[in-house]
Amino acid sequence: MTILGIETSCDETAAAVLRRHGDGTTEILSNIIHTQDDHAAFGGVVPEIAARAHVEKADQVVTRALEEAGMTDGGIDAVAATSGPGLIGGVMVGMMTAKAYALSRAIPFIPVNHLEGHALSARLTEDCPFPYLLLLVSGGHTQLLRVDGVGRYARLGTTIDDAAGEAFDKTAKLLGLGQPGGPKVQAAAETGDATRFDLPRPLLKRPGYDFSFSGLKTAVRLAAEELAPLSDQDIADICASFQRAAAKHLAARTERAMTDFEIPAGDTGRLVIAGGVAANTEIRAALTALVDSKGWTLLVPPSKYCTDNAAMIALAGAEHLVAEGAPPLAETLALAPRARWPLDENPEGRRHGGGKKGPKA
Ligand code: KG4
Ligand code: ZN
Repeated sequence: MTILGIETSCDETAAAVLRRHGDGTTEILSNIIHTQDDHAAFGGVVPEIAARAHVEKADQVVTRALEEAGMTDGGIDAVAATSGPGLIGGVMVGMMTAKAYALSRAIPFIPVNHLEGHALSARLTEDCPFPYLLLLVSGGHTQLLRVDGVGRYARLGTTIDDAAGEAFDKTAKLLGLGQPGGPKVQAAAETGDATRFDLPRPLLKRPGYDFSFSGLKTAVRLAAEELAPLSDQDIADICASFQRAAAKHLAARTERAMTDFEIPAGDTGRLVIAGGVAANTEIRAALTALVDSKGWTLLVPPSKYCTDNAAMIALAGAEHLVAEGAPPLAETLALAPRARWPLDENPEGRRHGGGKKGPKA
């Protein structure tokens, strides 16, 4: 089965072709990602600019993905596109592109939850059986979930304020490092002293698995204001201290969830990290140490499949197609994009991506 995947929920216009073999293995035939650079002057993604850039690029990106996979003359069995959650203008562009492609070739269109793409992304390149504990850390989400199978997600904890990636992006903005903030903060931190600033440890005594990043953000701002004007070394030290604090917070909350995670008899614990922030080397190192201390296994997709990409969307589409069969085209063509779409919504009764019908997203 060969699937075309399309991703347009934020500032990446992406398309990929994935082949799923009968034995359950997958092959990524192409993975094209166009990252919009139109937002640099604004210090963050501007939804309307993103939507217009998706309109301009979607066709080219899809064509390149098909060309690279050698599939321009047909052979695609289904098309999957991110149908939420995300910036609604971009999601609309991706869905319309996918629907048009599906309709013109009379093949199924599969709506995919963007978070489900991230949740399954470790399975793109590794043997990663269910169940596993998932730490999903992106620009819009910071969640711990139990993943029991395709479409079977139970959310254990989430951020009560900012997402982890958002905290990296705001720190970068405050320090004038440019966007996206995560890689910039990580690069600046390389020459910094992580012990120079004593930043707070959020929710240290609070039970449960929730996260919080706003206190950290405020502490970074206060430290920067106190030192202004900042030298390059000050900036490096703030970045290193912030990154260390974020990594410790993520590891501390994940450790709680690991302790309470029920592992089936005879199995070992698996922790998967996904989402853009999973590309961070210090966070990976902190979680590697944690997993080693518990005798668990850590699975992290390669960086290009951590940040937004369409291969993970194609994979989620393929897994639903295998599990549930092809949804009737008339049914999925009627689905509207959704700005909000929790991953663990109605987990038992969920079918074909669970998108709502009708004009209201
Ligand atoms: O998953 P993603 O590509 O898009 C969303 O769905 O949000 O994640 C983007 C986020 C941004 O906030 C970006 O700053 C962050 O992931 N990010 C990183 C790194 N690379 C990307 N954060 C920390 N360290 C990195 N190396
Ligand atoms: Zn994402």
